[in-house]
Amino acid sequence: MAGEGMIPLRPGLEGVPVAESAISFIDGKRARLSYRGYAVEELARKSCYEEVAWLLLRGELPTQRELADFDRQLRSHRRIKYRLRDLLKCLPETGHPMGALQAAVAALGMFYPARDVSHAPTNWESVIRILAKMPTIVAAFHRLRNGDDDLPPRDDLDHAGNFYWMLFEREPSPAIRKVLDACFILHAEHTMNASTFAGRVAASTLADPYTVVSAAIGALTGPLHGGANEQVLDMLEEIGSVENVRPWLKEALAKKRKIMGFGHRVYKVKDPRATVLQELAEHLFAETGRPKLYDVALELERAAAEELGPKGIYPNVDFYSGIIYMSLGIPKDLFTPIFAISRVAGWLAHWLEQLQNNRIFRPEQIYVGKPDRAYVPLEERP
Ligand code: SDX
Repeated sequence: MAGEGMIPLRPGLEGVPVAESAISFIDGKRARLSYRGYAVEELARKSCYEEVAWLLLRGELPTQRELADFDRQLRSHRRIKYRLRDLLKCLPETGHPMGALQAAVAALGMFYPARDVSHAPTNWESVIRILAKMPTIVAAFHRLRNGDDDLPPRDDLDHAGNFYWMLFEREPSPAIRKVLDACFILHAEHTMNASTFAGRVAASTLADPYTVVSAAIGALTGPLHGGANEQVLDMLEEIGSVENVRPWLKEALAKKRKIMGFGHRVYKVKDPRATVLQELAEHLFAETGRPKLYDVALELERAAAEELGPKGIYPNVDFYSGIIYMSLGIPKDLFTPIFAISRVAGWLAHWLEQLQNNRIFRPEQIYVGKPDRAYVPLEERP
């Protein structure tokens, strides 16, 4: 029942602004994405994740001193409490790491209560803790579920290098470190996507930042959003060979299956992040060898351009990221957690922005249920 003067329903809130934001900008026709005005391609090439996180959170590139201080703070907050590790140990090893990450981030809020979100210094401490500890949580859950001891973070390594160390107990080569760091940068922020919106809705209730981030992690999990990167690999494995791409695609489209890693609400051309990820993948293969699935992916992109290109459906960020992570030896179910430990910079920037001019999100619905009815006592019902 549409109420008087009610705006018509826009499924998926397509085209409906829900906030004013100065954090990032997408031009979906020209394949452009910028963070605080800086092109993401340039940041991926020249910057590092720590600097990009600062940029997103504070609005400006840091000075040398600001970056050194921020980096030092991040390094000193990477450790997690032994009780949090015990919590991770108690979770089923067969459970998805996104569930473990969401639970652990929510639990962090019990160790570091931050209920008063009007206190800027406490908010900044929470930002540092969440950014610094999320990689430790993901790596620890992964090692513990395999029966290995988790590894303490290495303070002499940067954000990307330390994450790689905590997963594999070896240091990445400079090329691998750079690729992982660039992947973190490329996933760090993306305007009003579903997980960011979920986080902003939680933020608008003045919930603490751990709750805000765990709400965003939950929303990122789904296969239409961050969960797609894992499913892309499943799909490429199912296709199996370059020769099978076209028959597979024909059948998949006939059955109205979604092609994972393709399509985007805003981009009607190839996602600029997919282009950069593809370049990174090709550099990486010089070191790791070119996987067969990459050729399958290239052929799928070509075939899909013919079938789906006319509808504006092209590869998105999730299409090539999984192939990179697979080449680094990272298991499939860690792909989405890696998206989360990158995106948390954007989520936290949106949390701080939401607090600056907050009003609780409370949209409307269009009631389509039964009209007023008289209650019939149980014994009188037929
Ligand atoms: C991310 O929003 C963000 O910014 C997200 C993200 C970020 O950084 O935060 O970029 C990260 O989530 C990337 C997207 C990952 N998801 C996938 O790769 C899953 C597959 N893609 C889709 O299901 C879809 O394209 C979405 C979810 C990404 C977008 O959904 P929309 O905007 O609601 O589009 P839609 O489902 O309404 O599709 C419109 C049309 C439909 O055809 P018609 O009914 O009009 O004939 O396009 C078709 C769809 O069937 N379509 C596809 C398709 N994507 C859209 N057909 C086949 N394969 C696809 N992948």
